[in-house]
Amino acid sequence: MPFETAPRRPIRELPDELISQIAAGEVVERPASVVRELVDNTLDAGATQITVRLSAGGVRLIAVEDDGVGIAPDELAIALRRHATSKITNLTDLESVGTMGFRGEALAAINSIADCALISRPAGQATAFSLNGLTGELSPAARAQGTTVEVKELFFSTPARRKFLKTDATELAHCIEAVRRHALVRPEVGFAIWHDGKLVEQWRASSSSTENQESQRNQRLKDVFGDDFINQSVQVDHTQNGIRVTGRAGIPDHARSRADQQFAYVNQRFVRDKVITHAARSAYEDVLHGHRQPVYVLYVEIEPTRVDVNVHPTKIEVRFRDGREVHQAVRHAVENALAAPRAAVMTQQSAQMAQMAQNTQNEPSNQSFSRFSASNTPLAGIFTASTAINYVANRELLPSETHQISDVTAVWPPQNNPQTATSNSFDSSPKNHSDDTIWPLGRAIAQLQGIYILAENAQGLVIVDMHAAHERIVYERLKSQINVAEAAKSSLSSQPLLIPATFAATPLEVSTAQECAETLLQLGLDITAFSPKTLAVRAVPTTLAKGDAVELARSVLAELALHDASTVIQRAQNEILSTMACHGAVRANRKLTLDEMNALLRQMEETERSDQCNHGRSTWRQISIKELDALFMRGR
Ligand SMILES: Nc1ncnc2c1ncn2[C@@H]1O[C@H](COP(=O)(O)OP(=O)(O)OP(=O)(O)O)[C@@H](O)[C@H]1O
Ligand SMILES: [Mg+2]
Repeated sequence: MPFETAPRRPIRELPDELISQIAAGEVVERPASVVRELVDNTLDAGATQITVRLSAGGVRLIAVEDDGVGIAPDELAIALRRHATSKITNLTDLESVGTMGFRGEALAAINSIADCALISRPAGQATAFSLNGLTGELSPAARAQGTTVEVKELFFSTPARRKFLKTDATELAHCIEAVRRHALVRPEVGFAIWHDGKLVEQWRASSSSTENQESQRNQRLKDVFGDDFINQSVQVDHTQNGIRVTGRAGIPDHARSRADQQFAYVNQRFVRDKVITHAARSAYEDVLHGHRQPVYVLYVEIEPTRVDVNVHPTKIEVRFRDGREVHQAVRHAVENALAAPRAAVMTQQSAQMAQMAQNTQNEPSNQSFSRFSASNTPLAGIFTASTAINYVANRELLPSETHQISDVTAVWPPQNNPQTATSNSFDSSPKNHSDDTIWPLGRAIAQLQGIYILAENAQGLVIVDMHAAHERIVYERLKSQINVAEAAKSSLSSQPLLIPATFAATPLEVSTAQECAETLLQLGLDITAFSPKTLAVRAVPTTLAKGDAVELARSVLAELALHDASTVIQRAQNEILSTMACHGAVRANRKLTLDEMNALLRQMEETERSDQCNHGRSTWRQISIKELDALFMRGR
């Protein structure tokens, strides 16, 4: 969405009744505030190249040069007046602001605390004019089209304020950060920052004619944060309630100890907004635990009349007419982006790259790649059940129950089913895989220490924590089952036990079972008191039918005892399901056949959020051939 820049209106003083509507207050706190205001102005003027020159952390000098529309000589003096702006003229304009500035305050405020000069040459004018902000003297100057605002000796007349400034290095860092916030949202604009004669930062403008907005932004994000950020984040693009949310969300593994890489924009304005922060945070709830802070850059686009930018003098805060809608849109945008299993997305990306490189030369491999490039959205559903069916290509060799592997909701491992043949009856030879099949998580080759599955894929070695991965698969299955059940106003499908499992229970367990009987039934658990000190489990959720019923009952009762009111239970539902999933998941030291391991890998590829276990830790790691080679110093 290109920013509104032209046609430019004359700079006029705002009428008093409008002035009284504008959020007033201190805007200049430190050099970085000046930089932010001046860069805002250059962008409103349609600049494509912006140079910021600083001296002594910006305290001695801040000069911002642009190639924008410029200011007519007779308007230079007006630009420095309070409440003089070319951006709005009436209340309606104020309610649908599309520019960064609108108060007509910034230059006046800066001019009152520093020694300022405005040098500008509008398009079509033979010469530039320079206005001395202190004396009001206007003189001809040399300059190409555009404007330079020079701000010298900040706080020269208020030494007390100057004392509050930090070291030059710190003030410089804040100035760079101010420019960076603009750079992240305007890849089509080039930025350069000089400090004491040295170029300290430069972000080149993208060639807007050839690239789309997403690739332009990704390139800028790469330039600003480095390749790592792109590799460790997923694309966000979601529209809901007329609100579009784009950008990138860091994968849980890339989370940080501080919330210092969270950037949110509303209609290209950098904001600190509680609604957006909370929404993004809650999108990570199920995959990021503890105090880790996610990394993200999110761009929210919303009809300007649905957001009030006039709530804070520095415009860093905004108010949404309907915060709930924005919350939902942001939350779903990030949740969707994070849900897709990453191995699939990675394979899809590298397949697309390989496909471009190979240029349809190599028929068989292109065919297999096309599976992953069929959908270009990194959302869930890249893998259909058919991918798993392909894996079990040689179906005749498998016992009938194992066909369940191909079903996303199937119970894994098949061996748990007493009617399933033993592992020997699996066809464990590699002929199960047709040669043109590329599995993101590869083919299982071994089990290590009864804990890890080792697999081989195109990139190298994959190591999977089998319990953690399976726990997530069971958890996601339970969550979707309970959602379906809730929608149908029923409960999780459960399976009665032929012989109820009884156990000696504590008084708390007995009372919890009685008080929460309804919730337990909803969760597919039928637990009744057999005697004052004995509980009987009569039915368990079908998905968990193979596990230890008593252990499951005990953990769920313990979990329920923590939450008394039923409303709390509703909120704690995911925690309860997570506890249940732990019981349904394969335990360490269970010996798995290659087929069982492969079935687990295929389910991981299909299950949302399977890259993280229920506690937010990674379920698998990739070790590339390059890393293995480095380990053995091969090829040096
Ligand atoms: N770099 C620039 N190029 C062209 N015109 C500019 C530039 N900087 C300022 N102006 C003009 O000067 C006017 C006053 O700028 P100032 O920053 O004080 O107010 P504003 O941008 O309108 O509102 P705000 O106080 O919210 O920033 C602007 O409305 C604009 O017309
Ligand atoms: Mg301004």
